[in-house]
Amino acid sequence: MSDNLENLHAQYREGDTQFRMAGGIEGITKLANDFYDVMESLPEARKILFMHPTDLTMSREKLAVFLCGYLDGPDRYAEKYGPMQLAPAHAHLAIGTAEKEAWLLCMEKALALQDYPREFQEFLLKRLSVPADRCRNRP
Ligand code: HEM
Repeated sequence: MSDNLENLHAQYREGDTQFRMAGGIEGITKLANDFYDVMESLPEARKILFMHPTDLTMSREKLAVFLCGYLDGPDRYAEKYGPMQLAPAHAHLAIGTAEKEAWLLCMEKALALQDYPREFQEFLLKRLSVPADRCRNRP
């Protein structure tokens, strides 16, 4: 990674910069909704879509509040639902590399729908690939 990009990423990590750049709770709610809209429409995501409940209302809401805290904003997930760890929360699902890639593809497409600078989109996708890999429980 170039020094410039490294500096930019370090800036994103300061305080609640990520939360603010992602549009606060309103922007992150849109991101989570776009993410699930993409998942519903993308053939590559059919398998992970069918792992979810038929009604995606709670999935949309939970992803939005979780991402708030993950992006260094208020921990809305813990406030509403209590503490949560990603790997155990996904342990009942069969998530391998293909499922992880499908999830990240949905996120990449959802990020592209936001009014975020391209470098910030790329930063978020790279950041989210870490927890996505943590949710993987098979090759
Ligand atoms: C790696 C691929 C992933 C797949 C296939 C996946 C799939 C799912 C599914 C099917 C559910 C619903 C579970 C249920 O209702 O029983 C779920 C819940 C959830 N996922 Fe993921 N997920 C992935 C990665 C992630 C990542 C990277 C994040 C956050 C950065 C995340 C955040 C959440 C949250 C917050 C919930 C709600 C948990 C709860 O309160 O029940 N997921 N996921």
